[in-house]
Amino acid sequence: MLKRWSAAVLGGVLLLGALGACGGEKEGDSAPGAAKDDGKITMGFAQVGAESGWRTANTKSIQDAAAAAGIDLKFSDAQQKQENQIKAIRNYIAQKVDVIAFSPVVESGWDTVLKEAKDAKIPVILTDRAVDSKDTTLYKTFLGSDFVVEGKKAGDWLVKEYAGKTDPVNIVELQGTTGSAPANDRKSGFADAIKASPNLKIIASQTGDFTRAKGKEVMEAFLKANPKIDVLYAHNDDMGLGAIEAIEAAGKKPGVDIKIITVDAVKDGMTALSVGKINYIVECSPLLGPQLMDLAKKVVKGETVEPRILTVETTFTQEQAKAALPDRKY
Ligand code: AHR
Repeated sequence: MLKRWSAAVLGGVLLLGALGACGGEKEGDSAPGAAKDDGKITMGFAQVGAESGWRTANTKSIQDAAAAAGIDLKFSDAQQKQENQIKAIRNYIAQKVDVIAFSPVVESGWDTVLKEAKDAKIPVILTDRAVDSKDTTLYKTFLGSDFVVEGKKAGDWLVKEYAGKTDPVNIVELQGTTGSAPANDRKSGFADAIKASPNLKIIASQTGDFTRAKGKEVMEAFLKANPKIDVLYAHNDDMGLGAIEAIEAAGKKPGVDIKIITVDAVKDGMTALSVGKINYIVECSPLLGPQLMDLAKKVVKGETVEPRILTVETTFTQEQAKAALPDRKY
């Protein structure tokens, strides 16, 4: 394992001064479980879970990119629980990894563990999701999408779709995991985009936890409670796909009787879009691995990196999905 840059420089100096001396060792490194200086960067990655197609693609991107970059990856799956992620991060600190990266399940409650990493001089990179910590020195950078913009794109499409119409449009919303950055931001971005169109009304909004099963379950409840639903806005493809099952089981035609907008653009979502069951998808790219590994190398060397790195993303109509599907990587 590679010690942090300053320690490596110090080690080099010591080596020059005293041939044969073992440079770069820190106090406590000889304790059981302490890092070995094998010249490789070790990254501890605390993943959210395996809740969606997006997450599966994101995990694969990170694992593939780490292997390609020669980075030793320690990976943990928090099963959508913040306490599991905190435990994993504490473990990585105890193991003296060179860098910690994680995608926080929810936005708040990270200050203590991030401070522990900072005190241990282990740089932290946020990837995919943000934290709401006021102290931005607790992490080096945040790599990922702008979820507010994603929600806004979804709302803008809907406003255009109903332009010039004044009849009430009843919208139901399937939110992502409660308290998560994508759920908070996709909700607010969408609400902002439709606020100038009084006929577009969100009549029900509930979490489906980003999973297909919950998306189906909540949509079933929406359908029972609301005789007239015109639009479904789902914060990800998986919840939208679950909802499609509920809509079909209720004898309605997804994409026709109920217009559907989702976020992600994973293959299953794009397939449903291309056959007309979804009307519009806002892309959220999970392919963050290569950029994350580049950033990891830089922060371990002590180089300054941009504090916010935005992912480049697009949107898809049904026609665009047909064209894009054959080359879709995830
Ligand atoms: O944080 C990104 C979101 O998490 C994706 O949009 C969703 O599918 C995933 O579970």
